[in-house]
Amino acid sequence: MKALIFGGAGQLGRALQDCAGERWQFDAVDLPECDIGDEAAVQARIARSDADIIINAAAYTAVDKAESEPELAQRINGDAPGYMARAAAEAGKGFVHISTDFVFGDGYDAPIAPDAVPSPLSVYGATKWAGERNVQAAMPDALIIRTSWVYAAAGANFVLTMLRLMKERSELSVVADQMGSPTLARDLAGAVLALAQAKAAGLYHYTNEGVCSWHEFAVAIGEEALAAGLLDTMPVIHPIPTTGYPTPARRPAYSVLDKAATWEKLGEPARHWRGALHETILEIQNNG
Ligand SMILES: NC(=O)c1ccc[n+]([C@@H]2O[C@H](COP(=O)([O-])OP(=O)(O)OC[C@H]3O[C@@H](n4cnc5c(N)ncnc54)[C@H](OP(=O)(O)O)[C@@H]3O)[C@@H](O)[C@H]2O)c1
Repeated sequence: MKALIFGGAGQLGRALQDCAGERWQFDAVDLPECDIGDEAAVQARIARSDADIIINAAAYTAVDKAESEPELAQRINGDAPGYMARAAAEAGKGFVHISTDFVFGDGYDAPIAPDAVPSPLSVYGATKWAGERNVQAAMPDALIIRTSWVYAAAGANFVLTMLRLMKERSELSVVADQMGSPTLARDLAGAVLALAQAKAAGLYHYTNEGVCSWHEFAVAIGEEALAAGLLDTMPVIHPIPTTGYPTPARRPAYSVLDKAATWEKLGEPARHWRGALHETILEIQNNG
């Protein structure tokens, strides 16, 4: 199978390309070569591609900045996935789109099923939900995978931000009343390809197994980094409420996704987030 990846330089885009082998080959584009906000450029790139499927791993992922750039976020997260899916349908290719737990808002205390009605709290969440709807309208059997708290050994993510702060400071404060599931980009990439290969269609949820708060995630990062020798001492990590760390974008207090249908399709659940984090910290250590 061959896939054309938009967003090839992002965390998921790179992890997908790391899966290249006998089963999968990839073409990948990103900024500045191809701006997915440019409809004509996207259509032309898809029309001349010899790929079997198109994977949209590109997105406007700056959740807080999106609050002050709603039009740009809507163009990239909302409009572009729709005309990508339309171009893929016209070219007879499959289409895979990635979305987010942040399409959901307040009021949950149990894993959220794929068919729950979104109620986004932020511009990012609202534009990602618009993207889902535009994809479904253009190609009803497109594969849409919602995920959460994505990180990798390289890129802009919570793990690397925490490691930097823990090297700089002896004390830090991290929000303890937002619960979710961290997801290693490499594991997500494997699931994206497996679901595509299984011809899954419609909405699926994928994260690593397990649930934690950002505070618990930060403590685990510190513990793993200390054990790997990336830190000399464990900083004090204070749990704080969301109100103690005001951000432009509102985030859900509980956005754990129900993955039962995904595990059934894949034949097994994902590994626990702690094991994936352990592997990533060792990878960061090896990368120097
Ligand atoms: N990261 C998370 O925690 C998270 C959580 C839930 C869902 N997701 C979803 O998972 C998917 C993959 O996320 P990720 O973490 O891999 O994101 P990422 O690392 O931010 O990668 C996104 C890529 O898209 C590119 N991009 C942005 N605007 C573009 C444009 N106009 N044209 C072409 N490319 C553009 C970015 O380039 P620049 O870096 O140059 O902007 C970047 O290379 C996205 O759909 C995201 O919404 C992510």
